[in-house]
Amino acid sequence: MWTKEDLTKTIQKNLKGYKFIIASNKEPYMHEYKGKDIKCIKTVSGLTIALDPVMEAAGGIWIAWASGNADKDTVDENNCVKVPPDNPRYTLKRLWLSKEEEEGYYYGYSNQAIWPLSHIAYEKPIFLKEHWQIYKKVNQYFARAVLEEIGNDKAFVWLQDYHLTLAAKYIKEQRPDAIVAMFWHIPWPNPEAFRICPHKKEILAGLLSCDLLGFHIRYHCINFMDTVDFELEAKTDYEENSVIYRDHKTLIRPFPIGVDFEGISQNAKSQEVKSAIDNLTSQIPPPYEVLALSVDRVDYTKGILERLKAVDRFLQKYPEYQKRFVFYQVGALSRIHIQTYKDLINKVQELAEEINWKYKSGNWYPIVLNNKGIDYEQHLALYRSADLCIVSSLHDGMNLVAKEYVAANVDLKGTLVLSQFTGSARELSKGAILINPYDFDSTADAIKKAIQMPREEKVERMRRLRNNIAERNIYRWAGKVISNLARL
Ligand code: F6P
Repeated sequence: MWTKEDLTKTIQKNLKGYKFIIASNKEPYMHEYKGKDIKCIKTVSGLTIALDPVMEAAGGIWIAWASGNADKDTVDENNCVKVPPDNPRYTLKRLWLSKEEEEGYYYGYSNQAIWPLSHIAYEKPIFLKEHWQIYKKVNQYFARAVLEEIGNDKAFVWLQDYHLTLAAKYIKEQRPDAIVAMFWHIPWPNPEAFRICPHKKEILAGLLSCDLLGFHIRYHCINFMDTVDFELEAKTDYEENSVIYRDHKTLIRPFPIGVDFEGISQNAKSQEVKSAIDNLTSQIPPPYEVLALSVDRVDYTKGILERLKAVDRFLQKYPEYQKRFVFYQVGALSRIHIQTYKDLINKVQELAEEINWKYKSGNWYPIVLNNKGIDYEQHLALYRSADLCIVSSLHDGMNLVAKEYVAANVDLKGTLVLSQFTGSARELSKGAILINPYDFDSTADAIKKAIQMPREEKVERMRRLRNNIAERNIYRWAGKVISNLARL
């Protein structure tokens, strides 16, 4: 099993003499005013939680958009602050965006054009020229911040995700010697889906400025290469998994992302988590025997409405579980200025209320919605307490909630019910119960199967899942990307 120390050694061996720079839209830590005090908050997202331990091991610089209202008051003259706050290990360099830029780049092109374009969830992308212009400008800002940090040194630059498709091109124009990798955290669609994008050639050219382009699974690598074949005059090599475009070669590789298995397992056993488990009981409407859990950002790709309908079907089809079953949905709110997201928040609320009204009896009701945001210990407490975790994404690059649930399941008592349309289903099919989230009826049966499964089978499945996730952890993922980079 790869450890943090192994990753540190790999980095020291391979990145000697090079600056290590990561850039992403989201920052790993934000500062917020609480009254007059300033609080440093660890941001909760698959990407930042996965990369934070990597940066702790690597040191280096992480460039990201500043999103906290006290961020400006906590940086030095270079817009930098050392993090994590308790034991600083790396530098966070913050980048400021105006409201207009935030609107065009983040809410606009990133999340209303590229996000729906990449996920097959039947939400139409919106391509606005104004959004695209601002998206390009913000990608230039990111590139400029990276170039500032490179200075006269040699550097490995690791860009993250669909917010930064053009940054590699701008960096390479100034510093062709910089080694640039990009990891795409979401699915890459098939060429038919991608061809509707008016800016497709520029996006592809931007990505093909990278030396290494990583996706979670081979299927997305193939989709990407097929897209390039379809759209550009480029040479794709399916043997080597590479593309040559305008005399520059990009390696295309699958790197399935993992979690800090050991860290999560240890933390799940902590005293803080045990106390959080005790507090949790008061939030669940009695009486109940079975606790089902989902944890997501409230996003149409996550299949939250489909999941609620499956819970409804389950209670209708198997009425013996009424007053015995509670479904707890943690829904973190994000992208709330986009109309589709606002509508979804309301629809989820309405549907949950409707189902609760239908089945409510005495103090008991079947669905608890928590949109207030919960801390890390409460997350782990829920993971440890839930008899089953339902991940019903309609389409997902990987889905790290599935892996976190397993890592926190130190008592081997939980069952993972997992959408077959997630990247993680490719790795976890042996232990999880796979579902088609569009099919409410079979999802209802899967919930029943998870509950009624004999204890030995549950333990055996969870053990398999844990072995898999322990081995393919976050340090191995980062180690593999860095070893591949070093070969360049
Ligand atoms: O990988 C998907 C992703 O967009 C990440 O880039 C991000 O960290 C996460 O989902 C959360 O999204 P947002 O920052 O838009 O809330």
